[in-house]
Amino acid sequence: MSYDLVVIGTGPGGYVCAIRAAQLGLKTAVVEKRATHGGTCLNVGCIPSKALLHASEAFEEAGKHFADMGVIVNAPELDLKKMMTFKQDGVDGNTKGVEFLLKKNGIDAYRGTARLAGAGRVEVLSEDGGNQLLETKNVVIATGSDVTKLPGVTIDEKVVVSSTGALELQAVPKTLLIIGAGVIGLELGSVWRRLGAQVTVVEYLDRILPGMDGEVGKQFQRILGKQGVQFKLSSKVTGVEVADGAATVTVEPSAGGEAEKLQADVVLVAIGRVPYTEGLGLETVGVGLDNKGRIQTDNHYATNVTGIYAIGDVIAGPMLAHKAEDEGVAVAELLAGQSGHVNYGVIPNVVYTYPEVASVGKTEEELKKDGVAYNSGKFPFTANGRAKVNHTTDGFVKILADATTDRVLGVHIVGADAGNLIAEVAVAMEFGASAEDVARTCHAHPTLTEAVKEAALAVAKRAIHI
Ligand code: FAD
Ligand code: NAI
Repeated sequence: MSYDLVVIGTGPGGYVCAIRAAQLGLKTAVVEKRATHGGTCLNVGCIPSKALLHASEAFEEAGKHFADMGVIVNAPELDLKKMMTFKQDGVDGNTKGVEFLLKKNGIDAYRGTARLAGAGRVEVLSEDGGNQLLETKNVVIATGSDVTKLPGVTIDEKVVVSSTGALELQAVPKTLLIIGAGVIGLELGSVWRRLGAQVTVVEYLDRILPGMDGEVGKQFQRILGKQGVQFKLSSKVTGVEVADGAATVTVEPSAGGEAEKLQADVVLVAIGRVPYTEGLGLETVGVGLDNKGRIQTDNHYATNVTGIYAIGDVIAGPMLAHKAEDEGVAVAELLAGQSGHVNYGVIPNVVYTYPEVASVGKTEEELKKDGVAYNSGKFPFTANGRAKVNHTTDGFVKILADATTDRVLGVHIVGADAGNLIAEVAVAMEFGASAEDVARTCHAHPTLTEAVKEAALAVAKRAIHI
């Protein structure tokens, strides 16, 4: 078969790229080695984790907060098997949705592992040993990422798990030790704490959520601490031994010092993800990697080999589904002769815990490092009417604006529904808005969005409700 475009991998980057290419009239095929489409995100990432976050939050609400609202129910009981079915239904609905969209757009979908087999040729190796050769003008590699392994620690997905195993536990562990206070550690730690596990997070650095605004990290750590998550910062795990279905974890100060041993029923390794290029045959065609093993591309997603492009987790940039999707659209448009583009300055980043954490643009630390003069406006949810009445007053909105032009440079939110709240400021930033523009936009009352407006007013020191 011969195509204009073959996309390898049907995660958020790959399937979106294929759909946009087909919309633009390119004869398009996808190759996926998993049994279902949707990649890491839909199968073992964004979607199942959000299902468990949603269900476990409902469980905790019913047990801890319903009575405060005068809703008297029996103490909730956990049916973990049912919760896992709820999760899987959500996953299936989403992966089937992608299958439908691929068909609807006339995209040929091949099941198997794709290997670059020379200029304009992709070989598809199926599980039964068969293979097919696809001829194509262009290839987009969207093969995603895999778990970063901790040297000397074997992931068995039972006692020592990656995020994939942590989404499938058959019972609530009494004790869960998480290595890494990043997004996965805090989201999945929240799930299992709400369901009854005692959670300890060991983090190499002296803060949680590195890369996010420092003030956000501090306040969020305090909130999680109040919820019962324990943190061991500036600490590293140097060994994990498994015996009789439980683990003994050796932890040392990051800077060196006396080791201690911690017991845990389950250990979650969540220290990042690495680009996945195994078995692709990059070396046969000479596609270049950078020093972190990511496929190297120019700003049109082209690799060093003509006709081969790459997007998503397998290239540089934040490992986020929406970043991969937007790159998928951009590269398809470029291939169709249009001018696809992604604005990397405005990519929202959300942690779906309670409260949520959301951020877009520059942090205070980055602005200071770049020597940019800025004004900061902050508004706490304790002063927002809707948050008050809902009893969801944890957190704040912080807007950072250029001191000279008032242009919004970064927004950082800790609070209920922060992931939705960040969208309006992302749009505002895309349009080059000033804090004054946000402040003068009428926001509905009573909503949490008023906290965004008030933070924008606070940039000019004229918030109304504090
Ligand atoms: P992937 O989704 O990884 O898809 C790559 C696909 O390529 C896979 O299906 C793989 O099987 C296939 N493939 C690989 N090699 C071959 C080959 N040779 N031949 C054929 N097929 C191949 N991001 C968010 O934005 N929001 C979230 O809430 C979020 N939650 C997450 C939770 C967890 C637990 C994890 C692990 C990740 C989460 N992420 C989240 C990150 C998100 O999943 C990734 O950024 C996103 O999936 C990257 O998309 P991609 O298309 O680049 O790759
Ligand atoms: P991460 O990069 O977010 O966090 C890893 C953490 O582990 C960091 O704090 C790091 O300092 C720490 N660490 C590294 N080595 C360590 C060691 N040896 N001992 C102790 N701590 C160590 O990575 P994570 O949480 O694994 O997630 C991977 C990626 O998946 C994220 O970066 C994100 O791109 C994506 N993701 C996104 C989500 C979202 O958007 N809501 C949810 C889950 C994952």
